[in-house]
Amino acid sequence: MHAKGESLARLVAWVNPKSDWQALDVGTGAGHTALAFAPHVAHVVALDLVREMLVKTTDLADRRNITNLETREGNAEVLRFDDASFDLVTCRLAFHHFPRPRQAISQFVRVLRRGGTLGFTDNIVTPDEDCAEHYNTFERLRDPSHHWVYPLERLQTMFEQAGLQVEATRQLTKEFEFHQWADRQHVSSAGKEQLLEMMRNTPAKLTALFRPRWDNGTLYFTLWEAVMVARKAT
Ligand SMILES: C[S@@+](CC[C@H](N)C(=O)[O-])C[C@H]1O[C@@H](n2cnc3c(N)ncnc32)[C@H](O)[C@@H]1O
Repeated sequence: MHAKGESLARLVAWVNPKSDWQALDVGTGAGHTALAFAPHVAHVVALDLVREMLVKTTDLADRRNITNLETREGNAEVLRFDDASFDLVTCRLAFHHFPRPRQAISQFVRVLRRGGTLGFTDNIVTPDEDCAEHYNTFERLRDPSHHWVYPLERLQTMFEQAGLQVEATRQLTKEFEFHQWADRQHVSSAGKEQLLEMMRNTPAKLTALFRPRWDNGTLYFTLWEAVMVARKAT
């Protein structure tokens, strides 16, 4: 799913990477974002907290004959790189796992050179606090490593307060079939029942986001994802 998401093509197009750039992809997972940027830049470091994910990244890079990608085990909130060592930092669909989001952003800014680019995507939620609570509880029931998804405005504020200028944002909508979505995280039958119960009790203000619909006995619902490109001051 992460390999094919619409946000990836949009991110590459908007960032407009240059062939002499040093890039860092934070929370790389199986490396789909790092691999999408690798052919357009000089070198990419693909970083993740989980070693098993980096093995997948290396396998995919080998299969695609990508030789300018190196993997690094590490934490987004404690990046072990010198100041100003990257032209580009990307972080796609990983930020909602970080318990100290401001710390992660300040690390992105620190390792970016002046004028460097942050290419970012993550799921977002509506601004209402009750909705955010319901939404994040729902996500965490499916994936205990989920920390928090923010409204777009809040992300923009966090970026700007850290010294980034947001240059472009786009909100995308993606639809999921409930069982496929839950099975990717091996949710038990009891867990699925809890999630379905939460979906039935979705606060009215959140239905515009989830847009639940039942078709042939199966639930379909949507999530929102923001694509953002921001620049560090020169
Ligand atoms: C959904 S996957 C990322 C998908 C990937 N960026 C892509 O575009 O296909 C989220 C990843 O974030 C990683 N992660 C979670 N917390 C992290 C942290 N504090 N530092 C670095 N990586 C982290 C997880 O191990 C997981 O591999």
